[in-house]
Amino acid sequence: MNFNFTEEEQDILNSLQKYVDEEIAPKAHDIDENEEFPVQARNDLAEQGYFGMYFPEEYGGAGLSYLSYIAAAEKIAEACATTSIVLMAHESLCMWPIFTYGTDAAKQKYLPKLCSGEILGAFALTEPGAGTDAAMQKTTYRAEGDHFVLNGGKCFITNAQFADVFVVFAMKEGLHENHGISGFIVEKDYPGFQVIGHELKMGIRGSSTAQLAFDEVKVPAENLLGQEGKGFKVAMTTLDGGRIGVAAQAVGIAQAAIRETVKYDKERIQFGKPIWKFQNTQFQLAEMQAHVDAARLLVYRAAQYKQDHPDLKTAPDISAYAAMAKLVASEVASDVTRKCVQLCGGFGYSREYPFERHMRDAKITEIYEGTSEVQRMVISGWLGAKY
Ligand code: CAA
Repeated sequence: MNFNFTEEEQDILNSLQKYVDEEIAPKAHDIDENEEFPVQARNDLAEQGYFGMYFPEEYGGAGLSYLSYIAAAEKIAEACATTSIVLMAHESLCMWPIFTYGTDAAKQKYLPKLCSGEILGAFALTEPGAGTDAAMQKTTYRAEGDHFVLNGGKCFITNAQFADVFVVFAMKEGLHENHGISGFIVEKDYPGFQVIGHELKMGIRGSSTAQLAFDEVKVPAENLLGQEGKGFKVAMTTLDGGRIGVAAQAVGIAQAAIRETVKYDKERIQFGKPIWKFQNTQFQLAEMQAHVDAARLLVYRAAQYKQDHPDLKTAPDISAYAAMAKLVASEVASDVTRKCVQLCGGFGYSREYPFERHMRDAKITEIYEGTSEVQRMVISGWLGAKY
């Protein structure tokens, strides 16, 4: 596999690096400490074209490769994990299913505004009783004339309080299995729709996470995603992409922790020398970096594969490659960030320094968009079918 970027993509990634270093990284501490949604970065990234990075120019996207989008997500996560999930919930989880499964009317209506960042997107699958067991949807829909009517509720929805458009999954009234599920596009101003509360979280504390409620919400027929009853596949294929993004986020967080730890350990003097000079420190960080690079290769393999196989019918390995990337990258990130806290001792534990933030931010990558246990289910399912 070839992971090279075109000259244009490399230029874009270089200019993103500059923006990230100058504008995103310096604000990451306050965004976390004050649980502040990164409004400025959301607006700047949209203006600079990152909100529709890999979508075609006909919809206002930048038409770049999927791999370059994933590399951009990693860079942003290395500076601020919160900011990276705002972008990815928008692009991977909301825009991709609209682009892939939306009607022509829906694509024309929503994609240009999502690409420009005029509106922000979110994805709503999880419910109190439907987390890992995502098919157990209790939010219902019924067809009525030229629209559908939704009732129920969702939880843990990223971007919720700031989103304008939501990709929502619901079960046909009277049915109770995955073939009863359909996907819809819901606008925040539809009567009967409400965003409720704000989840207080351990990490990615600047991101908005809230509940949704639907009370007889009318959704136009053209906002159905794909065929009725095929919504579970819409959700699963969307998450196959989302998981590559979360894996890139994990790699970015782990890389940031290693970078800051090396810098700190070169300054910190104990027993008459910088603690970086102890072989224990060097060997631990060397091993961590090797694991992060290995995780990054899995992320790039999944991204390249997705890019090379836009037709899902001819992409039999996408779920497993995405799951492997997320499983390995998220567990490496948790392990690396925990060890970096230890290597920095009391300062590692202090909120004055970024180490404990990286550790808290890393943990969610093992949980959202499918826990590590779900990734193991997906990989073992693929293995069982292969051999
Ligand atoms: N692509 C296409 N089809 C798929 C698929 C995929 N990746 N995965 C499953 N399917 C299809 C199967 O082929 C099967 O089709 P048929 O019924 O037609 O045969 C159907 O879906 C059911 O498959 P399973 O029997 O394997 O499904 P399951 O009910 O056992 O669930 C699971 C499998 C892997 C556990 C799945 O439920 C899952 O991924 N759960 C985790 C959900 C998740 O990631 N939630 C996070 C939500 S988003 C979030 O975190 C918040 C945020 O905002 C960031």
